Amino acid sequence: EKGGYDYFMLKEIAEQPKAVADTLLGRIDASGLLTLDEVRIPASVLREVDKVVIVACGTAYHAGMIAKLAIEHWTRIPCETELASEFRYRDPILDQRTLVIAISQSGETMDTLMALRHAREQGAKVLAVCNTNGSTIPRESDAVLYTHAGPEVAVASTKAFLTQLVACYLVALYLGQVRGTKWGDEIRAVIRELSDIAAAVDTVLETMEPVRALARSLADKNTVLFLGRHVGYPVALEGALKLKELAYMHAEGFAAGELKHGPIALIEEDLPVVVVVPSPRGRSVLHDKIVSNIQEIRARGARTIVIAEEGDEAVVPYADHLIRIPATPTLLQPLVAAVPLQVFACELATARGNEVDQPRNLAKSVTVE
Ligand code: M6R
Repeated sequence: EKGGYDYFMLKEIAEQPKAVADTLLGRIDASGLLTLDEVRIPASVLREVDKVVIVACGTAYHAGMIAKLAIEHWTRIPCETELASEFRYRDPILDQRTLVIAISQSGETMDTLMALRHAREQGAKVLAVCNTNGSTIPRESDAVLYTHAGPEVAVASTKAFLTQLVACYLVALYLGQVRGTKWGDEIRAVIRELSDIAAAVDTVLETMEPVRALARSLADKNTVLFLGRHVGYPVALEGALKLKELAYMHAEGFAAGELKHGPIALIEEDLPVVVVVPSPRGRSVLHDKIVSNIQEIRARGARTIVIAEEGDEAVVPYADHLIRIPATPTLLQPLVAAVPLQVFACELATARGNEVDQPRNLAKSVTVE
């Protein structure tokens, strides 16, 4: 059942290149544009959308945070991402022109279900991004885009996360395509880049041995911090969540720009801090700012664990441990940057003697509010 792996989580991590490719399959036409006929919300309705709201929990929420950046960048439609459990209790402003995207691996998460019911009552259209065929969330939505990750058994979400990202990128591009905010050639270019990601994830997976060794060496630590910016911020949150649920360690993710507003006070001798570094080619201003952050925390004694693109030499002098990821376009970087963090958390859990697939106190799908 576990295909020769000790844990479902390891199997599911390894399946990610295929999962990512499967989520693209059949959704690109011969001309290199998107055919999402399965999204049965008419183009005329999508053209009128003036706001997108994403609701989700846990890992799916982190995917939603990244999706917001892609949607706003590619479509210029204002988009907000909200924790499903908070959403309906604050009387959100919704109407017929609001598109709500509910992201859920299981399709049974009660918080997400209640949020989408509330949205539909207010007249909003709901698109589910879901991994489980025929589950409740897609059944109660106006349309669904399935992430074709295959069954995910381990409680800690891995391949579902990557495929949620791919599906959300497709939704963002599709909105741009339908509304004409993104031109054919630009869409084709991004789709080509997305098609290359499976191979990039594979490359990451082949180079994970040092990450495992590093994880084992940190097994007796109490705290690990994670820093990122832009798309790297949700990746930092996801890295911290993985560590909490699997290693039962105190782990926190911060937007690196917030360091000086408080969290830097936490830095002490030998504290492991994982930093997700943006590409030096894309938003190079952010890259340079993060490099200064790494210098600052290292000067205060932090043990820096730096995840940086291949060829980024600026980080080398300040990285106690350097984890290389293939170069990708800025918005797609989470697809490769999240993978070492999954491996890191899984290995730490094993080193600490924890049950990897069934962490204490957690369930795979949370069907209570
Ligand atoms: O099935 P869902 O995607 O709706 O589940 C949402 C969260 O409960 C889930 O992502 C949870 O945070 C995972 N255990 C994280 O690894």
